[in-house]
Amino acid sequence: TIEKTFSIVKPDAVKRNLIGAIYQRFENAGLKIVASKMVHLDATKAQGFYAEHEEKPFFNELVEFMTSGPVMVQVLEGENAIYSYRELMGKTNPEDAACGTIRSDFALSMRYNSVHGSDSPESAAREIAYFFTEDEICPRD
Ligand code: CMP
Repeated sequence: TIEKTFSIVKPDAVKRNLIGAIYQRFENAGLKIVASKMVHLDATKAQGFYAEHEEKPFFNELVEFMTSGPVMVQVLEGENAIYSYRELMGKTNPEDAACGTIRSDFALSMRYNSVHGSDSPESAAREIAYFFTEDEICPRD
């Protein structure tokens, strides 16, 4: 099944000029970028995005980090995109991420972990709609 998933290139990666290197990983894996933009999140937008983590001890630092500089947000499309993008990213903690994954190669720590990806079809739908209108998503073959 062709799916869409939502992705963020986080501030730590944008700051280190890794946007292109990370986009290359998406494309090499067969994921197509069907929507993309740079945004600098404010606290309200970041808190809403991570609402499911509100009660976690790392929530405030997560929001502080995600608002610390611009991010790239994108919609990726491909066969089994949600799962395949999670495999491409590797585990949340770069120390646990498999060799050759984005987080293994670029992430600095659990917090500064370079990329985000949706973890289910429901979160993909919610996260895509949180950042993009329908007309900003470009169908491709
Ligand atoms: P992400 O996929 O964006 O979803 C939530 C984020 O919270 C996660 O990536 C990490 O960057 C961050 N995170 C998760 N667990 C921890 C933790 N134990 N300490 C600090 N940050 C965390």
